[in-house]
Amino acid sequence: MPGLLLKLTHAALQLAASVHSKNIIDLTGDAWTLTNQQGNVSIPGSVPSYSQLDLFAAGVIGDPLAGDNDVFDNWVGTSNWTYTSHPITGLEKNPSTYLVFEGIDTFATILFCNTTIATVNNQFRQWIFDVTPILTSCPTPHPVLSLAFTAAPIEAAYLNNPNVSDISCPACIEAAYYYPGREFIRKQQSDFGWDWSPAFAPTGIWQPAYIVQLPSVGDIHVTNSMVDIYRQGQLNNLPPDQTQPWVVNASIDYIGNLPSSATLNATIVDLFGNPLFTGPLVGVTTANGTITGSLTVKGAPKLWWPVGHGAQTLYNMTLEIVSSHTVLVSVPKRVGFRTIVLNQNPISPAQEALGIAPGANWHFEINGNEIFAKGSNMVPPDPFWPRVTRADFQTLFDTAIAGNQNMLRIWASGAYLPDYAYDLADEMGLLLWTEMQFTDATYPTAAPFVENVLAEVTHHVRRLNHHPSLALWCGSNEIELFLEEIGSALGGTTPPALVEVYEGLFLDVLLHAVWDQSRSISYTPSSSTNGWLSLDHSAAVPMVERYENATSGSIYSDTDYYNYDAAPAFNLSTYPVGRFSVEFGFQSQPSYETYAAVLPVSELSFNSSSILARNHHYPINASTIFSTPGSPPPAQNRTDRSLQGMGEMSLAAETWLPSVTKTDPTANFKAQIYATQIFQSEFYRSQIAFYRRGSGLPQRTLGSLYWMLNDIWAAPTWASVEKGGRWKMLHYGTKDIYQPVIIAPYYDAGTGDVQVWVTSDLWSAVNGTAEMRWYNWDGEALGNGTADFHVPVSVGKVNSTKVFDFNINNITFPLTNAVAILNVSVSGGGKAYTHTHRFHSQSLATPEVISNIPNPNITITPSGTNKFVVESKTLAAFVWLDLPAGVTGYFSDNGFWMLPGKKTVSFTVQSDTTAGKWAKAVTVDSLWTLTSSN
Ligand SMILES: *[C@@H]1O[C@H](CO)[C@@H](O)[C@H](O)[C@H]1NC(C)=O
Ligand SMILES: *[C@@H]1O[C@H](CO)[C@@H](O)[C@H](O)[C@H]1NC(C)=O
Ligand SMILES: *[C@@H]1O[C@H](CO)[C@@H](O)[C@H](O)[C@H]1NC(C)=O
Ligand SMILES: *[C@@H]1O[C@H](CO)[C@@H](O)[C@H](O)[C@H]1NC(C)=O
Ligand SMILES: *[C@@H]1O[C@H](CO)[C@@H](O)[C@H](O)[C@H]1NC(C)=O
Ligand SMILES: *[C@@H]1O[C@H](CO)[C@@H](O)[C@H](O)[C@H]1NC(C)=O
Repeated sequence: MPGLLLKLTHAALQLAASVHSKNIIDLTGDAWTLTNQQGNVSIPGSVPSYSQLDLFAAGVIGDPLAGDNDVFDNWVGTSNWTYTSHPITGLEKNPSTYLVFEGIDTFATILFCNTTIATVNNQFRQWIFDVTPILTSCPTPHPVLSLAFTAAPIEAAYLNNPNVSDISCPACIEAAYYYPGREFIRKQQSDFGWDWSPAFAPTGIWQPAYIVQLPSVGDIHVTNSMVDIYRQGQLNNLPPDQTQPWVVNASIDYIGNLPSSATLNATIVDLFGNPLFTGPLVGVTTANGTITGSLTVKGAPKLWWPVGHGAQTLYNMTLEIVSSHTVLVSVPKRVGFRTIVLNQNPISPAQEALGIAPGANWHFEINGNEIFAKGSNMVPPDPFWPRVTRADFQTLFDTAIAGNQNMLRIWASGAYLPDYAYDLADEMGLLLWTEMQFTDATYPTAAPFVENVLAEVTHHVRRLNHHPSLALWCGSNEIELFLEEIGSALGGTTPPALVEVYEGLFLDVLLHAVWDQSRSISYTPSSSTNGWLSLDHSAAVPMVERYENATSGSIYSDTDYYNYDAAPAFNLSTYPVGRFSVEFGFQSQPSYETYAAVLPVSELSFNSSSILARNHHYPINASTIFSTPGSPPPAQNRTDRSLQGMGEMSLAAETWLPSVTKTDPTANFKAQIYATQIFQSEFYRSQIAFYRRGSGLPQRTLGSLYWMLNDIWAAPTWASVEKGGRWKMLHYGTKDIYQPVIIAPYYDAGTGDVQVWVTSDLWSAVNGTAEMRWYNWDGEALGNGTADFHVPVSVGKVNSTKVFDFNINNITFPLTNAVAILNVSVSGGGKAYTHTHRFHSQSLATPEVISNIPNPNITITPSGTNKFVVESKTLAAFVWLDLPAGVTGYFSDNGFWMLPGKKTVSFTVQSDTTAGKWAKAVTVDSLWTLTSSN
């Protein structure tokens, strides 16, 4: 509502309900002014917002995500801005009065009624200030609130200077992108640029803000609350006894004066209203603005399961602070009963007897069951969080679930996600591996920094703990790997001072920040790790990391693997053998339509200057990757490194696919995009099949999370879903290879051996048949069936089995015109599963193969609502249904191979601005297009 500071009821704010009268003034909205320090810009501002968003709305700058504006307008991120409220109405004069900010990004001096309240320095903290005396003596009933920001790059440069900084850290070292010094500041680290992210360094009050007035004793305002549900006796990071009763620990953080008689009551009901628990909590204590107690559940609640493994049963819990028969506040929490553990225990003799290699486990267990984690890594959906909506998360999570994923890793930095994201994940059964915002650097351990971090992390651990979708707290992205890389760069050992600062924060401080609050959630200090060497909850240092202290022949780790030399992309011996694959990937170009939405037509070609500038793969010259405090990274030649990133994609496509030489420039660009997307999809599929097969091999691999799910802008990146929501071929490719039961070929080009395996991540055994038949590119059967297979197959719970093998040197027909189609058809647990795959031994870039690929004369015909019939005259590879602009959603299948004949494909609409006209504009293509010059 323009120009008004709204006075809301707290019910409308969806905060705690209270029977007492208190006064909450909502500061969100556009009753603000934004000015720069020079004073030559003064425009309407808003909360929550960022200076870029307000300047764009006021027409001062263009769309930050269009063209080259990220660089052209980078002055916005390096300027000091002030947000000033309009005079605030509706305040009462005398009650206890607090300013409550849910998030300020990042460095600001806060003035209320012309009086300095505080200076803040952490994007992720909730800030609360008692302003009672200032309001009481304020000369006007309508005071003004202002926040004077210092630009984050300026503050980071200042803190990075050891001569002036109070958080100096001589041992700190970072992988820098655009602005140096991010490790000294508590701000989304990708805001300073990342290999998939622009560097906006935005400034603003990015979360809601309120003034809370509490007139009398018993008026309570809830600032946070926490529910921890665990099996009695459970300890973090260790599998609990599933026969023990459930314990519920609950607490409320509040401002206001609690009567001394205050205590806690709770009710827990299922979603039909049947009670599970009603009554008082025991052991209630009150200290430092938090009231805490616990209860034990007598009954046996229905368990919560991730998608694909059972129902997502949820319960409504109401937690009340009560005093002399009065409910002071009532806090609703929707909860689920489940245990989830990141198991890094040593491999037991019983496991070894099953054929599992010695070393340590590295997998998740849900309610006592090992689960194969299938998923991807998620980055912020937009550089500007205030414009991200619940609907955006709904779409993104729908996309993950439609892609047969059950886990997302919420990448470290980034920001802690809003509650609604976890609410959606709770309902959808999507596990969220959650990280704290630290990445590829060592961070200070100076007291002011640690205190700041502890307040931040404690708040979010408490805020998110009750969500059954919360799978893990991980301290950082890749830092143990980063330390190892520094060690190798220095010729062998990581400097002990670096290990010391790493452990100071990630083992001493952050482990306790989780364990002190929660018994239900595991903690690991780094996403890439060989796990713990020892774990002793009563020791002074409870977790000691293993690092490189490994016994040969043993397997401990998760794996994080990238190889930008595409030549060995399908050589399985180059893939890492580990217990869990946490990152792997390769870049591809997003669709023509996604680029066309933000770039002028003149920039729509493969290596145009705008697209080149958006390729951030190599921001830093590898020899100078580590910038030290006080010395920013050396000046860089942007173009060379962008060309290197573009070159990898082109080379990969040319190595494995027909080269694109179309005469029409637009058709040529579209074909090049298609080729980079095919290579990307094939590379990930090959690795995922490898990691999934590992569930039945000594490594007992139990996870595959590819890099990455989504894009923050239109750029060549690792994402499977483009900014704006279009699926790359990769998302269809991973959807297919993440099906519960898959058949896949594993080819050794050196020996000619091909093994065909069936893998299942189901919790019941499956039985059925597997088969393989050979065809030429015209789609005719080859070899009279002599080289075909048709065999029975059975696969156990979360396992894989070899179904047959052969050697291509024994095949009598020409391999340059031969494709094997593989099928598996099984049932188990009352359900049937089928999967199709293909195998060709010769690269699709081989001239003889290319000469055998016919024009399949493929056609597409709309057939009923959102249905299409695709018809091909020959075998067709990578059949691609392409959407026009204006519609997002996904086909039931795409990027598939088909034999001559018809295939019906349906489309799920996520958004449509074409009033249904899109359906007539869908086009179809196949691999043959790469061989054709028009
Ligand atoms: C704040 O200070 C400015 C000048 O410094 C003055 O004009 C204004 O009246 C003051 N406002 C209040 C509420 O005291
Ligand atoms: C921004 O503020 C900082 C610290 O307050 C100051 O050092 C710097 O000069 C200011 N920069 C501009 C461009 O006003
Ligand atoms: C559970 O809580 C939600 C959200 O507060 C509410 O809409 C729903 O009616 C509740 N259901 C039951 C059975 O209490
Ligand atoms: C708290 O729970 C107890 C036990 O169920 C009940 O007797 C009491 O009335 C409750 N208090 C309030 C204020 O509802
Ligand atoms: C309350 O806060 C004070 C000061 O921060 C601290 O010393 C004390 O240990 C806290 N008490 C509890 C019970 O957490
Ligand atoms: C390496 O690990 C072994 C146990 O596997 C342990 O006894 C030894 O102390 C470790 N060495 C170091 C340097 O941590």
